[in-house]
Amino acid sequence: MSFATAGGTAPLRGVVVGAGALGPHWGYELHHSGDVVLAGWVDLLPERAAAAAAALGAHEVPVGADLAAMLDAVRPDFIVNVSPPVAHHAITLAALERGLHVLSEKPMAATLAQAADMIAAADRNERLLMVSQNRRYYPGLVAFRDTVAQLGALSNLTCQFFIAHRDDAAEFLLTFPDPLLLDMAIHLFDGARAITGADPLTVYCEASNPPWSWYDARRRMPRQHPLAGHVPRGGRFGADRAPRGHRYPRGMSQFEPGDVVRAAHPDTGDEMEGTYLAEAEPGERLEVDGEPVDTVWVELDDGETRKLALDGVRAV
Ligand SMILES: NC(=O)c1ccc[n+]([C@@H]2O[C@H](COP(=O)([O-])OP(=O)(O)OC[C@H]3O[C@@H](n4cnc5c(N)ncnc54)[C@H](O)[C@@H]3O)[C@@H](O)[C@H]2O)c1
Repeated sequence: MSFATAGGTAPLRGVVVGAGALGPHWGYELHHSGDVVLAGWVDLLPERAAAAAAALGAHEVPVGADLAAMLDAVRPDFIVNVSPPVAHHAITLAALERGLHVLSEKPMAATLAQAADMIAAADRNERLLMVSQNRRYYPGLVAFRDTVAQLGALSNLTCQFFIAHRDDAAEFLLTFPDPLLLDMAIHLFDGARAITGADPLTVYCEASNPPWSWYDARRRMPRQHPLAGHVPRGGRFGADRAPRGHRYPRGMSQFEPGDVVRAAHPDTGDEMEGTYLAEAEPGERLEVDGEPVDTVWVELDDGETRKLALDGVRAV
């Protein structure tokens, strides 16, 4: 992967997208850095961006709700994407396709398919796409990492993390599925990468919602999430570009042929069950005709064939 670097001696100009809980922290950094200029601020609620800019004393900074209009008017060098995860994909692509660099908040995207698309867009446009993993730089974690490194070979790493997102939660967390897992677990996951110095080959997760939870009751069933695009075991796969002659009963995913898998119906969100079919070597990223696969075909009860994100399908 390569990306263009911004040259010249003038400070780089950045637009912040998102003025919720975290956006003002990024706005502060841009406004007070001598190396960059806060060139604009976008939020679906522009009064938030205006208030955040005013709080910094940056009254002259243009604010608005329309990202494309702001980017075309201000023509910045980069954006900082501090929007909710479900918006990361569209905002990041809009910037990359205009030839802008992107500094984004974690989690990179709401789905694995979106993340792969964003990486492809960054490569295609030869622009930097950086995802902030600030917690690996926390002094406590750095000290722990350095201490562990002096102890000898590491064989096992465990961690526990608790946070009760409720009254003080960002708005998007209350509607985001599995908020601790999909929004916060990346901090622990990246912390594990920082401590071990290793990159994982496969990841999976089991999630459940306790009976006293204030989140949606529909989410209380135990679930498994294949989080990475690696296939943990060999098998046949109903992949995006598989021959259309394949008949898929109702759902499919990674794992071995004949495994019963479940996924959410693409329209209703209801659970559906089916049998898995396809091919890949253990531990390899799944590819069809040399292309990475992040979607699968599913044939619905009415006979219609639809696409599903690979990371939305799991073993029973
Ligand atoms: N690295 C960290 O330690 C850390 C800490 C907190 C939050 N975050 C991340 O920062 C991001 C934002 O979190 P937050 O707590 O500020 O959320 P938030 O819900 O408080 O604020 C999000 C803001 O984005 C705006 N918005 C929503 N969709 C938009 C769109 N399409 N275009 C423009 N603006 C849009 C909303 O109106 C809101 O003002 C999330 O990805 C979150 O995970 C990271």
